[in-house]
Amino acid sequence: MKILGIETSCDETACAVVENGREILSTCIASQVDEHRLYGGVVPEIASRLHSESIVGVCEEALEKSACKLDEIDAVAVTYAPGLIGALLVGVNFAKGLALAANKPLIPVHHIKGHAAANYLAFPKLVPPYLCLAVSGGHSQIMVVRSYTDFHVLGRTIDDAAGEAFDKVARALGFPYPGGVFIDQAASRGDKSKYALPYPKTQNEFDFSFSGLKTAVINLIHNAEQRGESLDKDSLAASFQHTVCDILCTKLVNAIKLTGRGKVALTGGVAANSGLREMLTARAAELGAEVFIPPLWLCGDNAAMIAAQGYYEYMAKNTAATDLNAYASLPL
Ligand code: KG4
Ligand code: ZN
Repeated sequence: MKILGIETSCDETACAVVENGREILSTCIASQVDEHRLYGGVVPEIASRLHSESIVGVCEEALEKSACKLDEIDAVAVTYAPGLIGALLVGVNFAKGLALAANKPLIPVHHIKGHAAANYLAFPKLVPPYLCLAVSGGHSQIMVVRSYTDFHVLGRTIDDAAGEAFDKVARALGFPYPGGVFIDQAASRGDKSKYALPYPKTQNEFDFSFSGLKTAVINLIHNAEQRGESLDKDSLAASFQHTVCDILCTKLVNAIKLTGRGKVALTGGVAANSGLREMLTARAAELGAEVFIPPLWLCGDNAAMIAAQGYYEYMAKNTAATDLNAYASLPL
């Protein structure tokens, strides 16, 4: 079964064709990052307008690269939540029009479930149940993926997402948006034990809180600037990255112990972080747990993951009518 996936929840206009939830026939992304970089972050109205401009071309390109004609596609899957509402509406309405015109089923996909499905494209042997840590610019959560469509959230961030904290600290360090990757690069040159940073506490042991940690780093930078003291940027990046990774991995390891799950998957834009990939691999190995980490090109937002999850949603009969709406936030 061939599914055309559409993703417009943030600042990537993406379309892809995936067969049976596992095989990518094409995946195309038009990134808006250069436009948003001018403003230091995503500007929602600009995102919606750029999606409107790009979506037809990206969809045509995805079909062309997959060597499929529209009538050879079996269904259209689209991210309908969560995300920037104006951005989501562009994708949802485009998908509706396409599904209606081509007389194909319409499949709504939750963005976080889509991120989890990125691992199915890389690892044919990964099947639920397993534990999944999704860390992106908008989300940080530990989930038990009970089946392809049934997710149980063990913990989530109570304030900033991990990627948001990376981006804000990066901005304070003078890196361009989105700064996660620049922190990653700087961290590789720094000493992670040079700056002692706080480990925020949360009531639920599987929840995250990154706001206090982010503020502590930003205050440290501002204080150094005001006093005219020099700052070892690379070591501060390394200390911050290590602290975030330690928080994420410690909670995930506790979740592995609690649930007895022997399989753990990482996903989302922050899954591209080299420190996190390394630490999770090492800590899961100590427990004998199997780790699944997507290749870098499947970590960030893409439509192949939406088409992959769309396949499993279709199998579970989760299709939508033409009154499908988009939602800025929606529980799993
Ligand atoms: O999944 P994604 O593309 O979009 C959302 O759904 O939010 O994630 C984007 C986030 C950004 O915050 C970006 O800085 C972060 O992923 N990111 C990284 C790295 N590469 C991307 N964070 C840390 N280290 C990286 N190498
Ligand atoms: Zn995402």
